[in-house]
Amino acid sequence: MADNNLRKSVHVNEISEAAVAGVQGREFYHDPVMLKECLEGLNIKPNGTYSDCTLGGGGHSYAIAQELNSEGTLHAFDRDDEAVQFATKRLAGVAPKFIVHPVPFSELGNEIEPNSLDGVLYDLGISSHQVDDSSRGFTFVGDNPLDLRMDRRENVSAQEWLRSVSEDDFAAALRKNADMDRAFKLATRIKEKVGEITTEGRDVLPSDIKAVVEAVFPDKRREANSLLARVFQAIRMEVNGELKQIEDSLRAAVDCLKVGGRLVVMSYHSVEDRCVKETAAEFEKACICPENLPVCMCGGNHQRLKKVNRKPILPSADEINRNSRARSAKLRIYERV
Ligand SMILES: C[S@@+](CC[C@H](N)C(=O)[O-])C[C@H]1O[C@@H](n2cnc3c(N)ncnc32)[C@H](O)[C@@H]1O
Repeated sequence: MADNNLRKSVHVNEISEAAVAGVQGREFYHDPVMLKECLEGLNIKPNGTYSDCTLGGGGHSYAIAQELNSEGTLHAFDRDDEAVQFATKRLAGVAPKFIVHPVPFSELGNEIEPNSLDGVLYDLGISSHQVDDSSRGFTFVGDNPLDLRMDRRENVSAQEWLRSVSEDDFAAALRKNADMDRAFKLATRIKEKVGEITTEGRDVLPSDIKAVVEAVFPDKRREANSLLARVFQAIRMEVNGELKQIEDSLRAAVDCLKVGGRLVVMSYHSVEDRCVKETAAEFEKACICPENLPVCMCGGNHQRLKKVNRKPILPSADEINRNSRARSAKLRIYERV
């Protein structure tokens, strides 16, 4: 049972032993992707203040904490209470000052003072632990009821969302979140299937969605798993409001960063990456006048971010060999100006 007290920000020492008992003994949680590149991107000052907005298993946070001296502070956000409990235990005693915010990272601006951070890190998406634990309903291996919530205390589960969403909105989500072809047909067929299952009075299972995907794409049998993964991605992104979370949080991060502070964002698919790139681009412009204005009227001094690397950084072949989940990662680094 989740501890609701974890909703408020807590200093690491306040997390009780009982709260972490459930995660003790689990060695592997998540292999941090492009760890060295993220640390370099953050340009860590030992006495600085940093925020890891996607704590997960704490791999990146652990490495950041080790770079800090007794004056340094590390804030960490995660909306998944299992991640918070696991990583809090892992980080205990490592970070001089470690403050956990067990809330969505869109709350960054409400939890952190403006102009106070030297660096903010996002390692977007879900952790290996969330995927591998079939009881979380993120995977189609294991055929557990479809859930896909990062925070199981809130929001509607994937099956509840599928029951209530309209066919048009579902098709739009498949296009927007996963660039899916045949989106309307897919949405209509999945909705029909979910209707039948609801009448039967049982849970919607990944195998139900798989059967529909195979029926809608009979000509793409070889790609069945990747198509199914994209359907899951599209549903997961709606259930967790992921694109809005990213946009709101990146905007807040710009306010929270000090001039010279770094914004380091790692994404894992093109839709996420586009959202990061387009949101950051709003802050890279010096002039914010409407495009049809013949001369600049805004003063032309609105730029608040600049790119540190012209192109996104990609993982090395070695890293992809070692950790296949790194293969689609793209790292973008910005500096607050
Ligand atoms: C890829 S994992 C991070 C792994 C971490 N960097 C590590 O080294 O272990 C992403 C984490 O971010 C969390 N997350 C994703 N979106 C979030 C949001 N909007 N607010 C808070 N946490 C979020 C997920 O619950 C997950 O634990």
